[in-house]
Amino acid sequence: MSKVTAVQFAAFLLCCHYYTTVLCLSEVTRKEFPTDFVFGAGTSAIQYEGAWADDGKTPSIWDTSMHEGLFGEDTADIACDGYHKYKEDIKLMRDSGLEAYRFSISWPRLLPNGRGPVNPKGLEYYNNVIDELIKHGIQPHVTLHHLDIPQVLQDEYGGWLSPKFIDDFKELADVCFREFGDRVSSWTTLNEPNINSLSSFDYGFFPPHRCSSPFGDNCTAGNSAVEPYIAAHNMILAHSAAVELYREKYQDVQKGKIGVNIYSIWFTPLTNSIEDANATKRALDFILGWILNPLVFGDYPEIMKKNAGSKIPSFTDSQSQQVKGSYDFIGLNYYYSLYVAHDSSIPKTSPRDFTSDMFAKFTDFVDNPTGHRIIPPIRPKYDYDSLCKLLNHLKNAYSNPPIYIHENGFGVEFVDAMNDVARVSSLSGFIRSVREAIRDGSDVRGYFVWSFVDVYEWISGFTLRYGLYHVDFEGNGRERTPKLSAHWYHNFLKNGSAADIQNVGLRRANAHSS
Ligand SMILES: *[C@@H]1O[C@H](CO)[C@@H](O)[C@H](O)[C@H]1NC(C)=O
Ligand SMILES: *[C@@H]1O[C@H](CO)[C@@H](O)[C@H](O)[C@H]1NC(C)=O
Repeated sequence: MSKVTAVQFAAFLLCCHYYTTVLCLSEVTRKEFPTDFVFGAGTSAIQYEGAWADDGKTPSIWDTSMHEGLFGEDTADIACDGYHKYKEDIKLMRDSGLEAYRFSISWPRLLPNGRGPVNPKGLEYYNNVIDELIKHGIQPHVTLHHLDIPQVLQDEYGGWLSPKFIDDFKELADVCFREFGDRVSSWTTLNEPNINSLSSFDYGFFPPHRCSSPFGDNCTAGNSAVEPYIAAHNMILAHSAAVELYREKYQDVQKGKIGVNIYSIWFTPLTNSIEDANATKRALDFILGWILNPLVFGDYPEIMKKNAGSKIPSFTDSQSQQVKGSYDFIGLNYYYSLYVAHDSSIPKTSPRDFTSDMFAKFTDFVDNPTGHRIIPPIRPKYDYDSLCKLLNHLKNAYSNPPIYIHENGFGVEFVDAMNDVARVSSLSGFIRSVREAIRDGSDVRGYFVWSFVDVYEWISGFTLRYGLYHVDFEGNGRERTPKLSAHWYHNFLKNGSAADIQNVGLRRANAHSS
């Protein structure tokens, strides 16, 4: 075979593969979504920007942990070098047809002392990013705080554990609304307060690494039984304080929307037993209801108050009123579903942590009998419908809040090939699931792929890749290369359908052969 024929043959095989993995499953087009629905992709400050100590930025607690070598050799000192390469990336976004971009503000870049004087260089950077996005017709969806709390605030009062966090966060929010709010119409206060609290204060694998035995390992201080509840409580109050500020001082003029982001999982009972059904309900109340019940109803779920007892702080009447209704939308980070079983092995007496207060155990081994931890959705039969089920649950149990899917994606623990067929299957499967939920009456307003480019993935460093664009983290230029998923998403956004993936494959093959 000549070179050209060989490439065409490869493209043909690729298309056959799509045909079986994508086409038979789904046919989903951009046109089926409302015109004001937005499709985008996201990153977050510390995972993307690099320039960790440039132009007046001070360390966040993540910088500190990374430099202590707690996550191996990878650090986010340079990361994607987005601080210097944002213009180039926004051009790629435009070329990809992205309608919106979700990113976060680095608190220690904007307010190096945690409060007080604004860093002019930090201000300039975010102004430039926002202006550049708008110039290219891409909506900025901005998260005020995505895990990287300034080390100075950690040192001063223990960060999220102290109610002082609430006032400082409100000040950060005020600076952002004042400086950027004329151009930003979608604000998210906090990223994943639920998972942040658990990872940092129950299991201790996220900074500031607080936990207690037997619930977490290797922490020098902490109390896993109590601190996650306190941290989340302060985060909820900080969120609602920022929303109140936005509504009183800015929203009338700036006309934006504000919400919070929550990590969510969909749960399915492991067996048909009543015990497992009850455990599944508890799991939803603990993981999702922990944050969402206060926002929608003004208090924690009854089962959490019952099982956690005095460990979970109470809202005063005025706090409850401030928290209730403090959202214009809910952002969801969704990756996978788990099976849930009742856990009778947990002692009924203390100390119990959040997980044991739930009396439930999770498993993802049902479709994966080898017992290896899987990065969903590598499951053989991946459950895309679970996202639709979760959205239906939100519609039915929480009065159908406006929803943005803030993160959904596919991670692989190796430098994945440019022909990321599995990622394409996953994205199209979940996008179809969102379409089904909208048909069922869910008020979903947008969908963001995690992540736009490969980024620093927290404790997984650069080994876990989610990007539509590959980043060469070994090279000084941090070169970006579109993966097949980037071509697929572009094609989808340009009102193509999954079926057009064949053309994408052929176009790529032709481009390579010419
Ligand atoms: C705790 O430290 C030990 C010894 O260094 C290590 O093997 C283990 O993986 C650590 N556990 C966690 C959760 O980091
Ligand atoms: C399941 O939950 C219901 C409602 O909360 C409760 O009445 C029932 O006793 C529970 N059953 C079991 C077996 O846990």
